[in-house]
Amino acid sequence: MSTLGQKVIYQVYPKSFYDSNHDGVGDLRGIIEKIDYLKRLNVDLIWFNPFFVSPQNDNGYDVADYRRIDPRFGTMADFEELVAKLKEAGIGVMLDMVFNHCSTKHEWFQKALAGDPYYQDFFYLRDPKPDGSLPTNWQSKFGGPAWAKFGQTGKYYLHLYDPTQADLDWHNPNVRREVAAVVNFWRQKGVRGFRFDVLNVIGKATQLVDSPDPAHEKPLYTDTPVVHQYIQELNRATFGQDAAIVTVGEMSSTSIENSIEYTKPGNDELSMVFSFHHLKVDYDHGEKWSKTPFDFKRLKGLFNEWQTKLDQGGGWQAVFWNNHDQPWALNRFGDPVRYREKSAEMLATTTHLLRGTPYIYMGEELGMIDPDYHSMNDYVDVEAKNAYRELLAQGKSPKAAFAIVHAKARDNSRTPMHWDDSKYAGFSTVKPWLMPTDQKAINVKAELAHGEIFAYYQQLIALRKREALISDGHFSPCLEADPQVFAYERWLDQKGEKLLVLNNFYGRTTTVTLPAGWQGKAVETMISNYGEQLDCLGEKLLLRPYESIALKG
Ligand code: GLC
Repeated sequence: MSTLGQKVIYQVYPKSFYDSNHDGVGDLRGIIEKIDYLKRLNVDLIWFNPFFVSPQNDNGYDVADYRRIDPRFGTMADFEELVAKLKEAGIGVMLDMVFNHCSTKHEWFQKALAGDPYYQDFFYLRDPKPDGSLPTNWQSKFGGPAWAKFGQTGKYYLHLYDPTQADLDWHNPNVRREVAAVVNFWRQKGVRGFRFDVLNVIGKATQLVDSPDPAHEKPLYTDTPVVHQYIQELNRATFGQDAAIVTVGEMSSTSIENSIEYTKPGNDELSMVFSFHHLKVDYDHGEKWSKTPFDFKRLKGLFNEWQTKLDQGGGWQAVFWNNHDQPWALNRFGDPVRYREKSAEMLATTTHLLRGTPYIYMGEELGMIDPDYHSMNDYVDVEAKNAYRELLAQGKSPKAAFAIVHAKARDNSRTPMHWDDSKYAGFSTVKPWLMPTDQKAINVKAELAHGEIFAYYQQLIALRKREALISDGHFSPCLEADPQVFAYERWLDQKGEKLLVLNNFYGRTTTVTLPAGWQGKAVETMISNYGEQLDCLGEKLLLRPYESIALKG
């Protein structure tokens, strides 16, 4: 069995992977049909976004029944077959557990609404302030206030996300018991991994108070000490009983210190965390709904700081560029027009050779890019629709507002997987729920026949599995002042062999002066996206547009 550091995880967004029953929405049987494709990458686990019963107001992150498969995705028998067939292929299933909130259609919320006090204690129900205003001034992460009317009771319930996603009160031991029972239910079905949605916001203060200003709102409910306690409790009651289970907490605006605590083996919390600071380097003054080129210095600084400190503190992180909440990294940090293949490979090299567990979002291995939509009607996501309205309200022209949504919408990465160049990209025979646009140039069939990105991912994955420097090595930054190259070393023992990784983040050639210890050294080229084979280094090294190279010596 592979160690944690050797594993690579692939993410499937079921709604957009493959539609086997011709209704325009991907499904579990569709995934079963594509197992041969999934096998080719040699990944260890597949993280599936939620396919539980849900009104789909937030694409399945509004769960109405944690133990049932939504009929639009299939049946429990389909799920069991999927687990069994993936197991035969040597791939484990990682499920997405959304426990910060549940859908207002969940029976817990419905019973609470009907007046059952036992279930009312599952939620944050509060009276308005004496002046009739909302219980606190908190904002929903999808826009608007974080409070909505709780039926006709005069009270309000808290929703940090959409109004149809009611926050669960984890201070209530009955909530924690229910959540643990759900995890154990899926463990019994052979699930080998769990991703916990926005896990670090489950520990709101018991006394909810106004935030002095918007910048100080998140600390009121993020990374509070009690989160660690609740994760430890969940660990003991569920996945901690099986050392082979891999867990990852999605941590919103978390800190390095907390990420170490969440993942340090002795703490018995989680295997790793997702953090997102490196994906905010193209936000203008911290504002997602803006358009500005990415800040390379900041990106590199964040990687260096997180990698170094997590290494020193014994923490472990997921390393990734893409997921279902992010526009494609290729559009943000690469050049999808002039250097699509080279920049896709450079980005992959950067994360796959870091210390941590690499995640690949479906389609990344083809170099997929943001869809070429022309109207707000092409978008589905509630967040994008709210943001567009908000941008107009702020006085942006429809054209400027649309340009921002076009660059930032989560739908960018939620478009159907491109299997071939046909009208619906081989995803479905009918009009899909979200349209593909670039399948003529980018699709599985073409990539496997004559592309280079997929094969490069295969190489990166194989390398991690056989090279202990990559799976278990320490991390040290290199060439920290270089304005266009992100370079680092991996090592197991200061005196032993090391790996030097160089990544040119721009479409211009550059020459770097190698770190002193590498000058004149005999090396072995581990991987290069230009097919370079160096065996001896000089004092300097030339890097072509988006060139990546990893050298051992
Ligand atoms: C996470 C999910 C995102 C969802 C949100 C609320 O960030 O990745 O898709 O909208 O949580 O559940």
